Amino acid sequence: MNQKFPGVYMVDGQIATENSVPGYRVYDEKLLKQQNREYRLWDPFRSKLAAAILKGLRTLPINRDSNVLYLGASTGTTASHIADITKRYVYCVEVSQRMMRELLPVCRNKNNMLPILGDAKHPESYAPMIGPVDVVYQDVAQKNQAEILLRNMDYYKAKYALLSIKARSISSVKDPRQVFREELGLLRQRYDVVETIDLKPYDKDHVMASVRARK
Ligand SMILES: C[S@@+](CC[C@H](N)C(=O)[O-])C[C@H]1O[C@@H](n2cnc3c(N)ncnc32)[C@H](O)[C@@H]1O
Repeated sequence: MNQKFPGVYMVDGQIATENSVPGYRVYDEKLLKQQNREYRLWDPFRSKLAAAILKGLRTLPINRDSNVLYLGASTGTTASHIADITKRYVYCVEVSQRMMRELLPVCRNKNNMLPILGDAKHPESYAPMIGPVDVVYQDVAQKNQAEILLRNMDYYKAKYALLSIKARSISSVKDPRQVFREELGLLRQRYDVVETIDLKPYDKDHVMASVRARK
């Protein structure tokens, strides 16, 4: 077992996080015990952050002291691994009531995950529910993904973000490379794009962008 980033490990050749609630599974992931600790294997085909890490993400802006605003939490697959990495809060914003029903039991078990039924396009609408934000993690299948991220980073004055860009949600006719150029161009007008990772073969036509506020 070796550490890839604080809180992220390679266990038997697979990526994993240390389970903050031993014995508890979120999506039928495998649990492995090593040296009195329990690890949850992190499936890169189910989680774009795991895919980005395996594809060579150089810096993970999330650490044990990060408060994370997670936009598009769905049923909590990736958010639950982030909740293993940080000891602070993961604010899980999800617009779909159906997804929220499945997310709620996960948040009851992982007590640093806070569920928020809300629309990521309106960051002010969930402000009363959340505290300071260090990192925004966004994975919403919407047309204006960069714009939504910028609104949230600006509103919460976040220093870092990870944005999963899904080309096909933005345009089904444009060349995905063109879509990525346009979305990244919007981000670069005001923030630094530190690195971009193509998520193939785990996800087709997806890029993960790591974004940082200018000093
Ligand atoms: C690809 S899934 C996210 C998967 C999740 N990030 C994971 O890795 O476990 C996208 C989610 O974004 C949600 N979503 C779409 N538009 C949204 C919006 N405007 N605000 C909040 N959530 C949204 C969808 O309901 C869906 O659950």
